[in-house]
Amino acid sequence: MNKVKIKSKNLNVHYGQKQALFDVNLDLNEKEVTALIGPSGCGKSTFIRCINRMNDVIDICKVTGNIEIDGVEVNDKNLDVVSLRERVGMVFQKPNPFPKSIYENISYGPKIHGKGETKRHKFIWRTTTKTLYSKSDISKS
Ligand SMILES: Nc1ncnc2c1ncn2[C@@H]1O[C@H](COP(=O)(O)OP(=O)(O)OP(=O)(O)O)[C@@H](O)[C@H]1O
Ligand SMILES: [Mg+2]
Repeated sequence: MNKVKIKSKNLNVHYGQKQALFDVNLDLNEKEVTALIGPSGCGKSTFIRCINRMNDVIDICKVTGNIEIDGVEVNDKNLDVVSLRERVGMVFQKPNPFPKSIYENISYGPKIHGKGETKRHKFIWRTTTKTLYSKSDISKS
């Protein structure tokens, strides 16, 4: 049995008067893939946003209870959320690219982390654009 990586204890989330999560107690182990499955609106995204404090950006959202990663409380007001979000990434349901070129979107992450232009992200850019163009009408024009 793998060690617990993320621990949710009595986690409650409200959007204004509406309660979205009710006392969620859940342990997620390291080196395992865990899927949250449930009907639309049951709170999967709300729970995932609790892990990297993305609910902070929703004004009406109030989170109570605890979420720990490696024993460190994520809801601690003094926690550096930028460092947290470097560790706990999230892929959104709908893609939300910056209004920039494909290349700039792909190179943005490594660039803000001071990695400059690496061979690796040039490779990712080349293969991504190849795939995009092969699937779009652009290649036909
Ligand atoms: N920004 C928000 N403002 C108000 N209510 C919200 C907000 N985001 C989610 N909710 C409400 O919280 C509840 C849980 O929504 P959530 O998006 O977490 O569900 P979900 O399981 O991820 O759904 P889906 O499968 O459609 O992605 C729903 O009733 C939803 O309407
Ligand atoms: Mg969702």
